[in-house]
Amino acid sequence: MGKMELDLTSYWVPFTPNRHFKSAPRILASAKDMHYTTDDGRQLLDGTSGLWCVSAGHRRQRIVDAVKAQLDTLDYAPSFQVSHPGPFMAAQRIAELAPGDLNKVFFTNSGSEAVDTALKMALAYWRAKGEGHRNVFVGRERAYHGVGFGGISVGGMVGNRKVFGGGMLPRTDHMRHTFDLEHHAYCKGEPEWGAHLADELEQRIIPLHDASNIAAVIVEPVMGSTGALIPPKGYLKRLREICDKHGLLLIFDEVITGFGRLGKPFASQYFDVIPDLFTFAKSVNNATVPMGGVVVRDGIYEACMQGPEHVVELMHGYTYSGHPLACAATLATLDLYREEDLFNRSAEMAKYIEEGIHSLKGLPNVISIRNIGMIGGVEVAPRPGAPGKRGYEIFLDAFWNQGVLTRVSGEIVVICPAFISEKKHIDQMIEALAKSLRAVP
Ligand SMILES: Cc1ncc(COP(=O)(O)O)c(C=O)c1O
Repeated sequence: MGKMELDLTSYWVPFTPNRHFKSAPRILASAKDMHYTTDDGRQLLDGTSGLWCVSAGHRRQRIVDAVKAQLDTLDYAPSFQVSHPGPFMAAQRIAELAPGDLNKVFFTNSGSEAVDTALKMALAYWRAKGEGHRNVFVGRERAYHGVGFGGISVGGMVGNRKVFGGGMLPRTDHMRHTFDLEHHAYCKGEPEWGAHLADELEQRIIPLHDASNIAAVIVEPVMGSTGALIPPKGYLKRLREICDKHGLLLIFDEVITGFGRLGKPFASQYFDVIPDLFTFAKSVNNATVPMGGVVVRDGIYEACMQGPEHVVELMHGYTYSGHPLACAATLATLDLYREEDLFNRSAEMAKYIEEGIHSLKGLPNVISIRNIGMIGGVEVAPRPGAPGKRGYEIFLDAFWNQGVLTRVSGEIVVICPAFISEKKHIDQMIEALAKSLRAVP
């Protein structure tokens, strides 16, 4: 295949250094299972399940067939005032996988929308309970909750916030993040040190705002986009206890962790901590058609079901909420996860990733390695005066010279491969990382 002739001028590439990208574009032309093919015909091993989302592998036949069949039956139905079978069936299947009484599912089209929806639901819930003054949200430093104004307000990745500073939700506060280089430099799974960091919620933030004004606390169970920060043992439990003690809603953002990344349907089951609401997206339907959503406890839904019966209870929704194609892809993906036992396979392969990623200790510039589930991250020391450059170059070297797609966030290079990965794939990812770590000064 010859390199595609593309006019690169019109497209503004998201979350990408456009000028650098357009000087040497990385174009993926097709995909199957664990591999992409680039526009010039190179095979690239997908070390990142796309963007943490193609967790059953690319272009799986069952999902392709389901979407095609749906397209032949119903292309679109309005999502307001009328509906179609898809979202009811998909919601039921998601609720079956969710823990406890988290049984009500609201569909969005992305993780960002899911986060903003969850925040709005928290406000709506308190208002319905006669506590509309509860409007403070508590997030964390370094958190990534997508790019909506709600998400960046509770988020804590500075680069995602600083340009838009004036437009954020006014009533937010942030706990510190849990990473500590001294205690967490080389961690397998949950670090022993750091559960006490949750106490900041009770010791600093609640006294400052007063619990009666706080709507919700939102956290990613595992911080993904900021570079694989694993919660210390007991930290999430402690957060749950504090939220319970003070009557605060706890929201888990499971956009990355949902649907098997940690070997369980959701991270809440892995950590045995049940939130009041949680978001999902990405792996819900193997990223075949955009979809996200929020799952809430029965009581939250029930509390909102107020007012005259002909009046909308929650003034919120999207034209494409529960889109027929997204729902068809969801049902087929959930079937695939079950039939191929992919969550257990993810749990099994997690051990192999752990072994592999920690074998990179001692390579040039490596200062930290951590892993959990099918997530492994390697952090390198920043090059003086050029933060983020070394990490970016390692990512580029792995792409161009080693044929492996990784993710980079600052100085942290991450692999988060599909659950169908075999040992040989993980070996190839680790070897590629080792070579790139050695190659990049
Ligand atoms: C935890 C978390 N929340 C929200 C999002 C945003 O999702 P989307 O890009 O689908 O809007 C992401 C994306 O990576 C995420 O990791």
